[in-house]
Amino acid sequence: MDSILVKGGGPLSGQIPVAGAKNTCLKLMCAAILSDEPLTLTNVPRLSDIGTLSDLLRSLGVELNLLADGTVMALSGRDITNHKADYDMVRKLRASFNVLGPLVGRTGHAIVSLPGGCAIGARKVDLHLTALEKLGATLELKEGYVHASAPNGLKGAVIEFPFVTVGGTENAITAAVLAKGTTVIKNAAREPDTVGLCDCLIAMGAKIDGAGTSTITIEGVDRLHGATHAVIPDRIEMGTFMLAPAITGGEIEVVGGKRSLVESLCQKMETMGMDITETDAGLRVKRVVDRVRAIDVVTEPFPGFPTDLQAQLMAALCTADGTSVLEETIFENRFMHAPELIRMGAQIDVDGGTAKVTGVQGLRGAPVMATDLRASVSLIMAGLAAEGETQVNRVYHLDRGYERIEDKLSAIGANIQRISE
Ligand code: EPZ
Repeated sequence: MDSILVKGGGPLSGQIPVAGAKNTCLKLMCAAILSDEPLTLTNVPRLSDIGTLSDLLRSLGVELNLLADGTVMALSGRDITNHKADYDMVRKLRASFNVLGPLVGRTGHAIVSLPGGCAIGARKVDLHLTALEKLGATLELKEGYVHASAPNGLKGAVIEFPFVTVGGTENAITAAVLAKGTTVIKNAAREPDTVGLCDCLIAMGAKIDGAGTSTITIEGVDRLHGATHAVIPDRIEMGTFMLAPAITGGEIEVVGGKRSLVESLCQKMETMGMDITETDAGLRVKRVVDRVRAIDVVTEPFPGFPTDLQAQLMAALCTADGTSVLEETIFENRFMHAPELIRMGAQIDVDGGTAKVTGVQGLRGAPVMATDLRASVSLIMAGLAAEGETQVNRVYHLDRGYERIEDKLSAIGANIQRISE
């Protein structure tokens, strides 16, 4: 299995490009099931998660081809020949569960494996299921699979989520676009990924109002047509790169960076002593203090601070001046990077959903390992500033969500290489 070797070095400088957003692209791909006409996606990130979902969609009968070095994807849902999403596929990628809404919406029938457990938390799908039931689907759970049917089509309904669920909102939207009548989703996710999905569905002929607010109204239509749609830039990759100079010092330009996608991060980073400027190409980020200042952060649904940047922020705060408090409110087990950072010399106390990080003068390299994507990248970032070598194992987590990270970071001066075994 590959690993990444990082040698701590000096400040970073130069330009680093951001790819298309993984979590948007995955949901756009599922939307291809909704139409018998082609959907073309541009700015597709080249990630293993995209490959995993491609395999699942092909198994359902979606025709899928990559063009232009893999950054353009042509999908056609003309012939949906299979209605079953196998456990073997869904367990590898939880976002696969988002084929459920489009399959039932378009064909009135789906059998989708329940995703099972996950390293960062229980990650139940009960709210996805309640939403589909509200839309009139009959659901049965058999041998680990959800059997959903709506032979006469789905019917618009009011769906009120008790708390924000990104995947649940997106499954409900993609089920409701072809339902008869009006659906109102209350306490809907406001994430840019959800807005990106709605924009694509609107381009396909869906009638959706209120995307980006907590109430989304959908007027069902009889059919959706084809479209060409660009995937928005990945705000989590963007934020990850923006945090790198907070750890190493220096000045970088995140090409494709957009402040509106990472406003909550920008505000926190400015308090830490980072200078962020919007440029023609993206965002320029510079550390203007010797040591960043400690801050307190609570993770929240968008527009709050994203849980997907909590690990990277923690890495940056390990050498901050003072004590920071990070509160994780989205997932119950998302501090798995903390024990690994402690092995590198960090001072972190975790108590339930709260981590207290007391800044130390410097970190030391160590062999480390993480069990999820964002935790893994936080260890690479800590390694960029640590004395000596850090070997990050289980790199397949990184490849799920970061496109050629070692090449991108090398280009801005990081001493990083992949070791293939
Ligand atoms: C999406 O996961 C993202 N994944 C996650 O990205 C991200 O961390 C998360 O949203 C929060 O922003 C994709 O878009 C593919 P949720 P999702 O439903 O949709 C609970 C990454 O690193 N919940 O908003 O699964 C759930 O357990 C990742 O790229 C229920 O209890 O997140 C969690 O505690 C990982 N029942 C909370 O809600 C449900 O039916 C929010 O989850 C659904 C969710």
